[in-house]
Amino acid sequence: MTANNSRLHTLSQVPLVLETPLDVFDANEIANEDFFIRSHFDVPDINIGNWKLRSIGLDGYGVDYTYAQLMEFPKHEVTVTLECAGNSRSSVQPSCEGMLWNHGGVGRSNWSGVSVQTLLAQMGHISESTHVLFLGCDSGNEGYDSPVSNYGMSIPLSKAMDVDTILAYEMNGEVLPQAHGYPMRLIVPGWYGMASVKWVTDIRIVDKPHDGFHQSKYYVYVPPETQETQFPERVSVMKVKSLITSIKRGQRLKAGVQTIHGKAWSGAGTIQKVEISTDNGNNWQITDLAQFESQYDWQDWSYDWTTNAPGCFLISVRATDSLGNVQPKYFDWNFRGFANNGIHVVPVEIV
Ligand code: MTE
Repeated sequence: MTANNSRLHTLSQVPLVLETPLDVFDANEIANEDFFIRSHFDVPDINIGNWKLRSIGLDGYGVDYTYAQLMEFPKHEVTVTLECAGNSRSSVQPSCEGMLWNHGGVGRSNWSGVSVQTLLAQMGHISESTHVLFLGCDSGNEGYDSPVSNYGMSIPLSKAMDVDTILAYEMNGEVLPQAHGYPMRLIVPGWYGMASVKWVTDIRIVDKPHDGFHQSKYYVYVPPETQETQFPERVSVMKVKSLITSIKRGQRLKAGVQTIHGKAWSGAGTIQKVEISTDNGNNWQITDLAQFESQYDWQDWSYDWTTNAPGCFLISVRATDSLGNVQPKYFDWNFRGFANNGIHVVPVEIV
């Protein structure tokens, strides 16, 4: 299933994995057909007539909702930047396991749906629980030594109770596209994309984190030279990151004033500053940061670079968030290259 008019690059057809070319981000609104796709299994076929969302509390008490019933709850809207944990993996050195994303496994969209807290309020005894599990109706086993299972992720109850954690049924005001989780998907703002479960059919209140394959074995930080680690740290909150979107690797630019721009985001806190270097990281200048609009949206930055000297240059950009986190030159290597927020560097030629 590929979107016909999309400009996405195919990383895999089965399962469907498509990435967004960086220049698409220049227009701040990303059309739904240009939004990256990361699916682990086949996109499920949904018959909305008999589709149900099942919710089950710790006491076994449950409520089922039809699509129409979910639409009757108050609608909550939130603009969220979603980044796949494997984004930017192609620039990881030494190389790591996994699909070789360039930098386009990220996007921002306006999502609308039902706050998860609204549904939790209908279930008894939630204060005694600590986690909420969301299961998608897609399943498989990825070819690993694991049984066939549904894609699923749990999140801590406190995150599920955040009003901005929603079960979305609209993306940029349109019905949620099938590849992005129709009819309902979870949006966990501030976390890497793997937690935003698509095609959700089950919500369960549970008393410990889910031990499914993707949560406990796959989306985990495995450091170098480890034997089987029993409890590797789970990938969760997005690290501070920025990208240059206005110039391409190897681009030839005219001497004079060049406006360079891009995006910056962080799952923890907000962006405080974005700096740029035009001399391979020796000197850094502060860029102009667009006005802050909402907590989970990315922010535009831009910089007017004046150069009259023809030659080859390395342009680098790094962001700092309000908690003082700064992008490192090189990130902490892990086996699947997750959460690579190393400084983005683009080589250009001035002519
Ligand atoms: N949900 C289900 N059910 N199955 C999946 O394979 N992929 C996850 C997440 N939710 C996935 C899923 C991953 S790894 C990411 S990065 C995001 O969905 C991607 O969302 P998108 O395809 O809408 O961009």
